[in-house]
Amino acid sequence: MRRPFMAANWKMNKTVSEALDMATELKELVADVEDVDMALCSPATNLHPLKNLLKDTEISLGGQNLHYKESGAFTAELSTDMLKSVGCEYVVVGHSERREIFGEDDELINLKMKRAVAEGITPILCIGEKLEEREAGKHFARVKFQLAADLSGVEADDVKDIVLAYEPLWAIGTGETATPEQAEEIIKYIREELARMYDQDTAEKVRIQYGGSVKPWNVKEIMEQPNIDGALVGGASLEAGSFSKIIKFEEQ
Ligand code: PGA
Repeated sequence: MRRPFMAANWKMNKTVSEALDMATELKELVADVEDVDMALCSPATNLHPLKNLLKDTEISLGGQNLHYKESGAFTAELSTDMLKSVGCEYVVVGHSERREIFGEDDELINLKMKRAVAEGITPILCIGEKLEEREAGKHFARVKFQLAADLSGVEADDVKDIVLAYEPLWAIGTGETATPEQAEEIIKYIREELARMYDQDTAEKVRIQYGGSVKPWNVKEIMEQPNIDGALVGGASLEAGSFSKIIKFEEQ
């Protein structure tokens, strides 16, 4: 059985005091949660204070990016050692905003994936199609290409522990969600593709999240889909009230 996993993607939001306020509230609200993994993927400036605040809780931390080299002259970048030193278990890799705004290509994302798995940080690899690709019926081909390129050279033994986030670009921050059926259809396809690339057992172990305008009111239906194991949440993760409702999706 795959354990549900709800991750907050705060993007470029929250100062240290705002992050600590939110996390203080969240830790009370989810203190009774036992069967869902939870993570806050925060701007790097908040990670160390969050680590101290959350040390006795079940809430994990994630970075939003990493560099594929160990260290060196890479101004403004973060290494896996740096992320681990502030308590990160996870790191978001290949978010569509990194791909679209900052020009990250699949080759770079693949290097980051290999680095993360080699260093024992669980990558949350984001894949998904643009609106025009969906309208042209190319969304399956798009995610197939991304899986092959981004996971090239990543072994089955490592793949089973990664997290994938299917995030159609047209649903991110737009208030427009894929219907639960649309999300299930393509996430099921992603799992089948993993089985073709690796094997059935590996494909069954990989947790696949849906991301794109997940809210307290739509999370239950999304989580009812058999292949969807969690959510990567942007806007609705900024407030403890709404993110805790998403974490407790069964009660919605
Ligand atoms: P959203 O963002 O929930 O605000 O649509 C999701 C994401 O970009 O990960």
